[in-house]
Amino acid sequence: MENAIEVNGMRKVFGQKTAIKQLSFNVEEGEIFGLLGPSGSGKTTTIKILTGELGQTSGNVNVLGIDAKQFGTADFKSKIGILSDNSSLYERLTVYDNLKLFCKLYHAPLKEIDVILREVNLEDERTKTVSKLSKGMKQRVLLAKALIHKPKLVFLDEPTSALDPGNMAQIHRGLQKLNEAGTTIFLTTHNMEEANVLCDRVAFLHNGELQELDSPNALRYKYSTHAFHVETFTGDKLVIENKRGNADQIRELIANGQVKTMHTDNPTLGQIFLKVTGKELV
Ligand SMILES: Nc1ncnc2c1ncn2[C@@H]1O[C@H](COP(=O)(O)OP(=O)(O)O)[C@@H](O)[C@H]1O
Ligand SMILES: [Mg+2]
Repeated sequence: MENAIEVNGMRKVFGQKTAIKQLSFNVEEGEIFGLLGPSGSGKTTTIKILTGELGQTSGNVNVLGIDAKQFGTADFKSKIGILSDNSSLYERLTVYDNLKLFCKLYHAPLKEIDVILREVNLEDERTKTVSKLSKGMKQRVLLAKALIHKPKLVFLDEPTSALDPGNMAQIHRGLQKLNEAGTTIFLTTHNMEEANVLCDRVAFLHNGELQELDSPNALRYKYSTHAFHVETFTGDKLVIENKRGNADQIRELIANGQVKTMHTDNPTLGQIFLKVTGKELV
């Protein structure tokens, strides 16, 4: 498996402020990779460096086999898609005309517009003026804009923040479909549930440093206490360690019909983040 992104010892300093202390990680081709962290942890700065909007202070950054020094080229820009805070649309143009402009910019065929509008479920808004769209609809037009030239790799900076659960789920389905078709996705979020649902691997960013990097399942297993939590019909709550010596106790509870619920302790990504960094993910 090739790496779509390679980051080695990346550092970013803004004047007195060190936004990224030292970052090293790889993203494999075909992955959905999530960079997770609270506000101010350095997510947007990382995306800006990976997409060529900002230069790193030191360290090596390589995206799709291209070194950061070449990120200004049209060849690089045509290979990646970006959805960020400062992605914008022409408010007075229609949805279709906005996408037409981006098609021209990226030399993408105009027939892609209707295909992508179907994907993001905006066929009915095709001729609507952007200023008349809801926030969720605008976000989906921005996503269409990021994808119109069929990039191999897309960067999404908090793609669903401020969207309602319905719109969020719709965007998630779209991203999963896109990924199944072979697109690598790098996204940032502070939404743990989103990361859990979407990402093959997640990296925890805190104060410009990576604290953990693994699949959501592996992290949940790593931070599990490996105990059974049992609630009985009489209201008792038991925590029984998962070891041979406790088998009789568990068997007895089941044999006596006392078990109302039983599950292994599986912390959420949010709980793990708090444990690792001492900070809530907001
Ligand atoms: N252009 C800039 N000049 C100075 N400081 C900046 C600049 N951009 C970001 N920062 C600082 O870098 C840190 C990381 O910011 P950012 O990458 O936007 O975090 P996030 O996206 O995780 O909220 C913050 O402390 C922020 O204030
Ligand atoms: Mg940000």
